[in-house]
Amino acid sequence: MGSVAVLASGSGSNFQAICESLAAGPHVVAGLLCDQPGAPVLKRAEALDVPWALVPYEASSDGAKQTAEGRMESILRAWQPDIIALAGFMRVLSTAFLNAFPRMIVNLHPALLPNHRGLNAIQRSYETDDEVVGITVHFVDDGIDTGEIIRREPLARREGETLAELEMRMHELEHRTYPEVIQSLLAELDALCGKDGPP
Ligand code: GAR
Repeated sequence: MGSVAVLASGSGSNFQAICESLAAGPHVVAGLLCDQPGAPVLKRAEALDVPWALVPYEASSDGAKQTAEGRMESILRAWQPDIIALAGFMRVLSTAFLNAFPRMIVNLHPALLPNHRGLNAIQRSYETDDEVVGITVHFVDDGIDTGEIIRREPLARREGETLAELEMRMHELEHRTYPEVIQSLLAELDALCGKDGPP
């Protein structure tokens, strides 16, 4: 059995999709960390009965980031997840934090990387005339959306589709894909560590 901790800042629809997918077992969601007071994802964690912690960044100074990351690191050490999944976590993590959890942190990005790194990727994809857009799951390194790609899922554009319609289809694709990738990473780790359970 493996476990994943999720970091999120906003709505938390991907957090919920991960929880629903893992509910069938054998893997578990160790907890949710959120940096935004009042974010809807906190209500989802409460409703899903998943342990959660709010770790606000007090101000946009380096000191505040260090303090918040220190708190997140202690909480994660207590939860002992095998994987840390960013699901709409809108902060750039420091190299020190990433080094504390080597090859454990993954991110979901709503574009076919390396296209459209950074913020507002769906809108920026929409504004191109690319016939195919999509989503990417990747390991997090200290660049912006530059880490090793684990999986890319394309999505064909539809003629005349509005931004809202495309966004909805991207989210549906995310909700199917991200839990699947997390499940397979946890299964691989289980197999590596011999945690498959009794023969
Ligand atoms: C998702 O679309 C995710 O791909 C995106 O934030 C959204 C979170 O939605 N992440 C990024 O843009 C990261 N660069 P959610 O809160 O409903 O899961």
